[in-house]
Amino acid sequence: MDTPRNTPPEPNPEPDQNEGLNIAAAAREKEEPKAGREPVSLWTFLLAAIVLLFAGAYLGNLSGGFDNEQFTALGYTPHLPPGVEAEEVTRAWIDEYMTLGRRRFGVCAGCHGTDGSGNSAQGFPPLHDNEWTTGYSEKLAMIILAGMDGPVEVNGVVYNNIMPSQAAGLTARDLGAVMTYVRRSWGNDASIVTPEMAQHALDLYEERVAAGLGPVNASELRANHANMLPGAEVDPETGEPLSEGGDGGDPAGEEEVAALSR
Ligand code: HEC
Repeated sequence: MDTPRNTPPEPNPEPDQNEGLNIAAAAREKEEPKAGREPVSLWTFLLAAIVLLFAGAYLGNLSGGFDNEQFTALGYTPHLPPGVEAEEVTRAWIDEYMTLGRRRFGVCAGCHGTDGSGNSAQGFPPLHDNEWTTGYSEKLAMIILAGMDGPVEVNGVVYNNIMPSQAAGLTARDLGAVMTYVRRSWGNDASIVTPEMAQHALDLYEERVAAGLGPVNASELRANHANMLPGAEVDPETGEPLSEGGDGGDPAGEEEVAALSR
């Protein structure tokens, strides 16, 4: 009872009895984690590795080589970013012209078929490579504008029927386009008929109408219209004339005429 209350405790005679051992143990302890740098679970690494593996495989298989063409639907014309000239992305002149020609061919298709193979049972001749389609362009133009009657031999078959005039509402550009479409579709490979050339045909047709003449026939076409419509040939990419006042190109189908008349 006489020990004062606030006497400090007796110092331990053997402080840190196991000091050596404790230091070794303390050295083995992991460092206390600092805020924000806590150790990450191994599972996190494993998960990340799996995700990367799948993502890599997915891109490898489905990226299409990161080629922009891979993702562009055929015929797709991108919207123009501001400041880009339209010419840089529009289609070649000949593609536009052929598209117009195919549209104008709609009226012909009713008789000659969408694939130009005609219908021999009903007396509609095919438009595949022959002297009337891929030959002299003036013949084809006069058939379309004036219509045709009388016997006509097409690819070895004789037809004798009546084709009505298709001139109504055809501009020079329409006429040139539908002629070009016929001359360059279904394996046909003849020269382009430009609007300038087609205008000459419209002029000829006007004279014909003024003279009171009706549909043309095969022998008349051979006698009077075995010509290429005059006009400069054009660059298919741009539609620009290649030279002033050309001869309208070569009549691809005319060897057949030569062969026939031999
Ligand atoms: C109403 C039916 C009809 C329509 C429409 C028609 N044709 Fe014809 N076409 C004929 C017939 C029938 C003949 C054969 C005439 C004959 O026997 O003399 C013919 C003959 C032709 C020929 C010569 C023979 C041949 O087959 O190569 C050409 C070329 C031709 N047509 C192109 C056209 C084009 C191009 C159009 C559209 C702009 C067109 N036709 C629209 C019925 C038609």
